[in-house]
Amino acid sequence: MQKIKHIILIGSGKGGVGKSTVAVNLSISLAKQSNKVGLLDADIYGPSIPKMMGIKEKPRLNNEKKLEPFFKYGIKFMSIGSLIPSEKPIIWRAPMVVNALNQLLRDISWEDLDFLIIDLPPGTGDIQLTLSQNLQISGAIIVSTPQEVALEDVRRAINMFKQVKIEIIGMVQNMSYFEDSKKNKIYLLGENNVVEEARKQNLNFLGEIPIVQDISFSSDQGKPISTNEKSEVALKFQEIVYSMKKVLAKQTNQETNIEIN
Ligand SMILES: Nc1ncnc2c1ncn2[C@@H]1O[C@H](COP(=O)(O)OP(=O)(O)O)[C@@H](O)[C@H]1O
Ligand SMILES: [Mg+2]
Repeated sequence: MQKIKHIILIGSGKGGVGKSTVAVNLSISLAKQSNKVGLLDADIYGPSIPKMMGIKEKPRLNNEKKLEPFFKYGIKFMSIGSLIPSEKPIIWRAPMVVNALNQLLRDISWEDLDFLIIDLPPGTGDIQLTLSQNLQISGAIIVSTPQEVALEDVRRAINMFKQVKIEIIGMVQNMSYFEDSKKNKIYLLGENNVVEEARKQNLNFLGEIPIVQDISFSSDQGKPISTNEKSEVALKFQEIVYSMKKVLAKQTNQETNIEIN
C-alpha cells in the first residue's frame, strides 16, 4: 500500500484560468518546503503538465508492472497526456474516461507522499465524481480569474464540490492584476472579484497571482516559475502553500477533536 497523507484537487469552472499553472507551481513550492509531492494531471481533455514540466518521453513500467512517475524539479508527476497520442482529439465517452482515470490511479507507483496534487479538467463532470468516490480527498482548491464570466462557472464548481462532500480548502485569484513599468496595478480582468466571491461564499481566500510574462514564458519552456529562486512570483506561490497548510492543520485538529469528543 502506498501512503498518501493529503490528496488535493485543483479545480475551477473554466479552462484557461491557470489551474495547471497553479497546480505545477504549488507542487514545486511544496517540494521546496521539504514535502514529498506527487502531481497527477487528470485533465483528459487538455493535459498540459508534460509541456509545462518539459517532458516529452513516455512513462516506463517498473519491475512490478506499475507506471513509474517522472521526477523533475523535486516532484513526481504523471499525466494522462503522456499516455495518449498528443495530436489525436479525445472523443471519449464518460465511462471510458472514468476507466482511464481509475487505471491511472491504480497503476502509478507513487510510493509514500505527503501531498498528491490533482489537476482536474474544467467543469463539473465524471472525473470529479470518480475521484470523489474513489479517493479520500483532503480538499479542493478553486482557481479563478477575477472575471465575472469565470466566476459564473466557479459557482457551479463550488456547488458540485459541496454536493459530493469535498471540502473546499479555499480560492486562489489568478491573473489578479498587471503591473506597469511604474508599478501601477492595472486590473485587466476585474478588481478582486475572487476575494469578494470567497467572502460571500464563506470560503478561505488563499492568495493571488498577478499576470506576469515570466509565468507564461517559463511554462512554455518547461521550466515553471517556481524553480526560479529569485522570482517574486515564486514567493506568492509559497504564500499560497502556507495558507493551504494552515487550513489543512485546522482540518486535522477538527478531526482529532471529533475523535476525542
Ligand atoms: N498569472 C499568469 N500570468 C501570465 N500567464 C498565465 C498566468 N496564469 C496562467 N497563465 C497562462 O495562461 C494559460 C492558461 O493557463 P493554464 O494553467 O493552462 O490554465 P488551465 O489549466 O486552467 O486551463 C497558459 O498559457 C499559462 O501559461
Ligand atoms: Mg490545465
